[in-house]
Amino acid sequence: MANRIPEEKVEEVRSAVNIADFVGQYVQLKKAGKNLFGLCPFHEERTPSFSVNEQKQIFHCFSCGRGGNVFSFVMELENLSFPEAIVKVADFGHIDLPATYTAQTQPAAPKDQQQADLLKLYADSAKMYQHILVNTELGEPALKYLHDRGLDDETIETFGIGYAPANQLLLDFFKEHQTDYQLLRQSGLFIENQAGDLRDRFVDRVLFPIKDASGRVIAFSGRILTKSPDEPKYLNSPETKLFNKRSVLFNFDLARGAVRQDKSVILFEGFMDVIAAYRAGIQNGVASMGTSLTDEQIYMLERITDTLYVCYDSDMPGQKATDRALKLLDGNSRLNLGVIQMPDGMDPDEYLRATDKEKFVQVFEDGKQTPTAFEMQYLKHDLNLQNTQDQLTYLEAVLQQLSKLSSSVEQDLYLNQLVSEFNLDKDDLKQQLRSLIGQQAVQRSHRGPSQSQSTSSMVPPPEPMPDEPPMAQGEGPTNNNGPLSRVEKAERLLLYRLLNDHDVWLRVMAIAGFHFVHDPYQQVLVFAEAYFKTHNQFELGSFTDFMTDSSLQHVVTSLEFMDVASESSKEEIADLVNVIMNQQPLVEQIQGKKAELTAAKQIGNHDLVQQLTLALIELYRQQQQVQQAGN
Ligand code: UTP
Ligand code: MN
Repeated sequence: MANRIPEEKVEEVRSAVNIADFVGQYVQLKKAGKNLFGLCPFHEERTPSFSVNEQKQIFHCFSCGRGGNVFSFVMELENLSFPEAIVKVADFGHIDLPATYTAQTQPAAPKDQQQADLLKLYADSAKMYQHILVNTELGEPALKYLHDRGLDDETIETFGIGYAPANQLLLDFFKEHQTDYQLLRQSGLFIENQAGDLRDRFVDRVLFPIKDASGRVIAFSGRILTKSPDEPKYLNSPETKLFNKRSVLFNFDLARGAVRQDKSVILFEGFMDVIAAYRAGIQNGVASMGTSLTDEQIYMLERITDTLYVCYDSDMPGQKATDRALKLLDGNSRLNLGVIQMPDGMDPDEYLRATDKEKFVQVFEDGKQTPTAFEMQYLKHDLNLQNTQDQLTYLEAVLQQLSKLSSSVEQDLYLNQLVSEFNLDKDDLKQQLRSLIGQQAVQRSHRGPSQSQSTSSMVPPPEPMPDEPPMAQGEGPTNNNGPLSRVEKAERLLLYRLLNDHDVWLRVMAIAGFHFVHDPYQQVLVFAEAYFKTHNQFELGSFTDFMTDSSLQHVVTSLEFMDVASESSKEEIADLVNVIMNQQPLVEQIQGKKAELTAAKQIGNHDLVQQLTLALIELYRQQQQVQQAGN
């Protein structure tokens, strides 16, 4: 390796490219539970056992045991070196690497010529419109408009904002370049009259490029400079071969990295809100195109995060829209939801201009509401709570909301609020809530199995694909050599905890003589020791690269696909260590034997009583030894 690519650069590439998108070039992936499934590209198979976990950005095949991150994937599949893999992935993610690393790569050939031509047309149009805005006299009024709205030149550049002047230029521009007439027709950038003549669609509008998930311009939305009653405020490109409004989110391409970092996405109502937030450093925002969210958009978001905040305008229509969005999302996604609202009926863009960045950012940090808190406030709008009838209506509606919550702690929190706000008896409220929950359970049982998501901290096991189950039930083994022994199961869980919870690491590594029974786990442990000397924190992606050995990468990845509770306890760790160090927890054994002894006495089985008594004495003796050894 002549030119080592620095770790920060590797990290940048890794975090910019979603493994699902990258793998998606090779494998058709379908969502099943938390993971995506498809046919393993590494071997022949007819039922999918190849899985991608987007949250952790890893893949794993339950059948052949291969696994790793996006770099391991392409290294193994195309037999590349690590640097070659980085170059390949960076190329896919449109990330510039210094030429010294990229010398060997060739650009990918376009799959579909017409699509490539359209993309080029849009890219050229965007450039031309931006040029007019930024560099020409024609663009001055529009540039002033944007500056007045608080957008600086850097923001204009970042979002590729442009201006379509009143005297139409685009058609002439492309005619001069002898662009194919049919292509121009299909582009949606022009309006065609009955004679087949074209003219520019966007006239005297500020243009916001709409980009696909890879950041390629596929449409425009044009904002009028001065409000006019006869014309829409925003005019969008029509649907084309490239642009399907249902499956596009404004700023999805730029937001993706921040979404992954913040582990949440913020859904805004308008482009200007997304841009305002971006300017203030909140870069995980997206907006749908002036419509309610579609299934496709929800799916796009679910693929990159599991938490979504709705941040619509805080005026009444905005709150109505928030209520609708929450209900839609609650029914159609597994996203955790929250609400962020600007003060005083403003939209985020207005609020940023009315205040300063710090206050604005503060709202995003401190102003997060649960959907329930939002609803409790929203339900008040049409009611006069001085009036008893309205109070009852309100309480009933709130209790309905609370009855759907899965957390009793959360229910209790809001009950307490009601108690103090309306001076009510808590037990009465509780009673009413319980009966509502009861009614709902009855309704559900009539409707058949519940569709609601489990709220436990367990990762749900992959659901079978529509036709055939991707794998046998139960935990996926690292290989297909049959079920795992109790010790190996313990090893796998403990290793997972050691890597992911540094407190556990410190405690277990302090146990003299601790080591795993099976080689691969012990080898990973040795790598981890070295890794923690140079890294403060375990990070799956970088650890995977760090180990270099692909078979160990497979082991570590397979751990991440286990069905594991998110929290561990001291008892769990102690038990695991005991199993591995071949010491059944004595206390447990003693308790077990005691219980058996009681039962044996009850049924009058004297032989068994004698046998168990002897066993107990032996256990007590061992316990004494351990205690002495511990002192
Ligand atoms: P808003 O009217 O709230 O837009 O519509 P905004 O972002 O606050 O716009 P500014 O601040 O006045 O410039 C929200 C979104 O609805 C869509 C656009 O996507 C807009 O961002 N919309 C709105 C349209 O598609 N057409 C319209 O005529 C109006
Ligand atoms: Mn606005």
